[in-house]
Amino acid sequence: MSAASEVSAGQASTGDFDRVLVVDLGAQYAQLIARRVREAHVLSEIVPRDITAEEVKARKPIGIILSGGPASVYSDNAYGIDSELFEVGVPVLGICYGHQLLAHSLGGTVERTGSAEYGKTALDVVGDSVLFSSLPPRQDVWMSHGDAVVAAPDGFSVTASTAGSPVAAMENREKGLFGVQFHPEVIHTPRGTELLQRFLYEACGARPTWTHHSIIEKSVEAIRGQIGDQKVICGLSGGVDSSVAAALVQKAVGSQLICIFVDHGLLRSGEAEQVEATFRDTFHVNLIHVKAEDRFLEALAGVTDPESKRKIIGETFIRVFEDVAAELTDTPFLVQGTLYPDIIESGTKDAAKIKSHHNVGGLPEDMQFELVEPLRDLFKDEVRAVGEELGLPPEIVWRQPFPGPGLAIRIIGDITRERLDILRAADSIILEEVRRAGLYNELWQSFGVLPLIKTVGVQGDGRTYAHPLIIRAVTSDDAMTADWARVPYDVLEAMSSRIINEVPEINRVAYDISSKPPATIEWE
Ligand code: XMP
Repeated sequence: MSAASEVSAGQASTGDFDRVLVVDLGAQYAQLIARRVREAHVLSEIVPRDITAEEVKARKPIGIILSGGPASVYSDNAYGIDSELFEVGVPVLGICYGHQLLAHSLGGTVERTGSAEYGKTALDVVGDSVLFSSLPPRQDVWMSHGDAVVAAPDGFSVTASTAGSPVAAMENREKGLFGVQFHPEVIHTPRGTELLQRFLYEACGARPTWTHHSIIEKSVEAIRGQIGDQKVICGLSGGVDSSVAAALVQKAVGSQLICIFVDHGLLRSGEAEQVEATFRDTFHVNLIHVKAEDRFLEALAGVTDPESKRKIIGETFIRVFEDVAAELTDTPFLVQGTLYPDIIESGTKDAAKIKSHHNVGGLPEDMQFELVEPLRDLFKDEVRAVGEELGLPPEIVWRQPFPGPGLAIRIIGDITRERLDILRAADSIILEEVRRAGLYNELWQSFGVLPLIKTVGVQGDGRTYAHPLIIRAVTSDDAMTADWARVPYDVLEAMSSRIINEVPEINRVAYDISSKPPATIEWE
């Protein structure tokens, strides 16, 4: 969307919150720290390690946290930071590698002591300190380091130590500089959250105002400021992100919002009705329900190659959306459900292309909309919490992910109405049984796949020659990797017997026990 404006409602909405910057010295650590800060009701923002002190000042943070990271301060490719960051005038907390970097940069000594510490470690608090003052003198912390700070820089006092880390924590109160060798952000450091809160509330003077209620209030205010009295459109898929974004914009500008729900005929049973019921009937949103099944199925007729299916669906979606949007010529704004992790990761992803994922919200390059992205500062769990606060039903807020191309990539080979009906019937049994067993929220995804083959069976006295159905259920944190779910046998049995009894075109059920990698979650 090259023509789109950089300005977004989400961005503008965070201006009133106290903000802590988390300098990313190793992605997996930074994200967790950022989330812990937000759980303490303080807005956190992850920034790259090459951020300059001037750029930091421009963001007006009340504190800075340097994350852990995989490097050693002495390795050739050690990550450095602008040393002026320590002079910005706001408190700084270095964690693990960040602690070592702080010590190294300010004249302390970091050494490979030969006694690396990994895992649970006993920590002794030494003397008086800001970070530990309400915590017990001896506690378990989680360590993961080879190098250690052996001498703190001038002006710092050592506030805690362990057997392998003489300077396991240090602080320079006057300058507001703090370092801890362990990881307070992980659950294995039982008092870690309190320590982080002490940094936020005591050292930085943070106000705990980043609550779901205030996120909504500020966001609504910012959306109103951006949109004024103009019209805004939103491509609604029924997924949690576009639904929460639409509900927020609806709260802000009411009838100025027009949602476009493109039903491509590749949805699961009852899905279109649910979107209608939620948005038209409950939220009274202006909803344009485009029934485009014929158009999609015609475009897909005879297509069996997975990548071709995805491309055709993506393109057809765009054409349908364009046709509808063209009639709304006085609508300069477009809502997108972009999330914070999308922003953090954009530009850093260079993973090989496995599948050309089509985001059904994805739109043509030449559309001249200004984007409204009310979720661009939120993690997924915050989006869900905001959705709940806005009154969206649990079926939408806690929905398992469903791919944009829908059932088309779960039907191997040709997509026909008949095969869609078979899969829909089997798929809804799978989901019913998953829900009945209380597994829905535990599973990342659970669904059926219809392969091209047929197999022989026997039913009553007769031979059958019908399709098998594959059940796929996975656990995952982020869909980058996934494991096949250990669904109890009795639940699998209930699914299998119901599918075979209730869907006449199916005479056999199999369970997919492949993890990702080497398989992927979807079959195509
Ligand atoms: P795979 O199959 O690559 O899927 O392991 C990872 C996650 O992405 C979803 N998925 C898609 N989502 N458009 C989407 O919006 C797509 O084209 C698409 N393909 C896969 C999939 O359901 C899983 O959650």
